[in-house]
Amino acid sequence: MTTRCSALSFLILSLLSSTYGSAIEPRACGGFLYVGDEDVIEAPFQENCEWQIQTDEKHVLAFSLVHGGDFAAAQEFFSIHDGLDVIQLENQIHHKVGLTSGELITTVYTSSSEVEIRFKKTPASPLKLKIQKAVDCPFNLGSESQCGRITDETSCYCATFTKRGQGNHTTYCSDNNMKLVSIEDNNEENTIYLAWGTLVNFWTSGTYNKTTGIWTWSSTMANLYPGYTDWAPFEPNNTLVDGNCLTIKNGWYDDPCANLYDAICESHPEDFIDTTTELYYTSTEDGVSPTSDAL
Ligand SMILES: *[C@@H]1O[C@H](CO)[C@@H](O)[C@H](O)[C@H]1NC(C)=O
Ligand SMILES: *[C@@H]1O[C@H](CO)[C@@H](O)[C@H](O)[C@H]1NC(C)=O
Ligand SMILES: *[C@@H]1O[C@H](CO)[C@@H](O)[C@H](O)[C@H]1NC(C)=O
Repeated sequence: MTTRCSALSFLILSLLSSTYGSAIEPRACGGFLYVGDEDVIEAPFQENCEWQIQTDEKHVLAFSLVHGGDFAAAQEFFSIHDGLDVIQLENQIHHKVGLTSGELITTVYTSSSEVEIRFKKTPASPLKLKIQKAVDCPFNLGSESQCGRITDETSCYCATFTKRGQGNHTTYCSDNNMKLVSIEDNNEENTIYLAWGTLVNFWTSGTYNKTTGIWTWSSTMANLYPGYTDWAPFEPNNTLVDGNCLTIKNGWYDDPCANLYDAICESHPEDFIDTTTELYYTSTEDGVSPTSDAL
């Protein structure tokens, strides 16, 4: 926080912290809840309670248990509904690349941005539900692709196995409301290799501008330097010739952007800016007053 932050913005941050912070206090039972990032609700011990849960229109909701475990089994104590009928819950097994068969379902996803939860039975031990705003993650984008929540519970990555130039893959990703991948760290890169191997080249959004001599992730407009890099030995070596796009294959290579390779698209919850979000955060924080910070 800079010194220019006024007392007012500090107050607003305090008000937001219960929906947007990392330390999440469970909510009291029942009511309307707008999930800006993530939130936690708790099963009641006495009466039943019903929650109306909503997040940004372009997103879906991800539900998991705070202390982990089998989400399907925990549904003995609550049910999740959309406005009309019992909602179809996306099955994470179809989405998480590499999840072995028989592994417990620990996170489930709604197919819309709005649901109702009804707690119907008092659990023997405390039951806390974590609710996160997530992007939709389809099984694939077409026959020649495969998608998965490979890095975390809320993002989605799709490998597309149709060979195109880097520019046409950029268009393909954005046509599917995603972005051609930018490699931010070693974990992200290795997770992609674990999911889809190191045998073929995948295009990323890395591009080189010969005039300025600057490498940029064109999806995010961030420069590569300073930052994580993983150039293969003697790479990049095409910057004076015709290579000016970044492809990965167990390391980074600069190759002519027109080369025909496969590609990885990515989508994260924060990629979509919803201008109504801030309004919701403040208007739903009825119970929070400035004095509660002193408790
Ligand atoms: C995209 O693909 C079309 C046809 O396959 C090709 O003519 C065009 O040059 C490609 N554009 C880019 C930017 O790669
Ligand atoms: C490279 O950078 C120059 C100077 O900023 C800019 O005018 C040019 O459009 C850039 N080229 C590409 C291919 O983005
Ligand atoms: C760059 O290095 C790769 C091996 O990493 C090699 O296949 C390629 O021919 C080299 N390109 C140039 C222009 O030297």
